[in-house]
Amino acid sequence: MQKPPTVTSPPHKNFPAPVTNSGSGNFEKGKARPTLKLHVGFSLSCHHALCGVKKRMRQDTDISWHEQWFAAYATRERAKARGDATPLDLKIRHTQRVLDNARAVITEETFMPDTARACLLAALYHDIARFEQYLRYGTFKDRESCNHGLLGVKILKGEKCLAREKDTVRGAALAAVGLHNRFALPRGLPENVGLAAWVVRDADKLDILRIMDEHLSGPMPYCPTVVLSLPDNADICSRTVIEAALAGRVAAYADLRSVNDFRLLLGTWFFDLRFPASRNRFILDGHARRLLAALPDIPPYGQAKNFLLTLFEGQGARLKQDGIQPPPPGSTRQRELS
Ligand SMILES: [Fe+2]
Repeated sequence: MQKPPTVTSPPHKNFPAPVTNSGSGNFEKGKARPTLKLHVGFSLSCHHALCGVKKRMRQDTDISWHEQWFAAYATRERAKARGDATPLDLKIRHTQRVLDNARAVITEETFMPDTARACLLAALYHDIARFEQYLRYGTFKDRESCNHGLLGVKILKGEKCLAREKDTVRGAALAAVGLHNRFALPRGLPENVGLAAWVVRDADKLDILRIMDEHLSGPMPYCPTVVLSLPDNADICSRTVIEAALAGRVAAYADLRSVNDFRLLLGTWFFDLRFPASRNRFILDGHARRLLAALPDIPPYGQAKNFLLTLFEGQGARLKQDGIQPPPPGSTRQRELS
């Protein structure tokens, strides 16, 4: 697997330097008033600058027009389904959850406002092609139909729903949609594109874990679409997936041979999450832990299962010690800004 590009979060250039009261002792006795005036004035200007930044961030992360546009598009496309439209309903709910997860990440990270906006737009639109893919081919399997990331870019360009966005925002959002389903991201991406793609990939994985946990913890038989039509046969396993788990690297869809392989692959996603907020949520949500717990303790899965569960247990204990709780989706700093 390619090593992920080194993408760092830029400091927020618009934030003013912290205000301190140092130096006030240099003023002569009896001349405290001008000093006080100077400091209050400086503090007030900083306060106004901070309010301006908060207001700008609030405006930049308000994508309600796009959310409404997407809802109308989803309704229109869903109405075209001749058979079972339930898989499309799952995708609509998935999109909302991915957007919530993306919001949670950008509130934990310090992104430039345009980058934050591109992340949210990419999260909202990342699976827009799922409608056309399902209507045309009756499956969500890219290998049997089309690349839904690239088709998504084509649809977004055709619909012109991003036309009113700044070039940089639109470009980063489109690129992130096109890249979100790649096994690994290419090196050397522009920083805003890399960040938007990573946010969507993390947010997407976290919600797929929820879907898989809810489905595989529920009653049998499993929905073939959800388990990618893999056989639920304990005698079938992929050595490649097991080796990836034991080596601490993400396993590939292409190597899956059974539902048990899929459970293990989902556990290896921990190694592919880019942001600390995503890794914390992965651990605290507990979806991967429950998915892995259902694997047999004996060979061939036992060793890999216990390796991952021990790792997650250690991470969970560390978070508990630090008092870290994941913010509920779409909350915390986003609300503090309002
Ligand atoms: Fe997705």
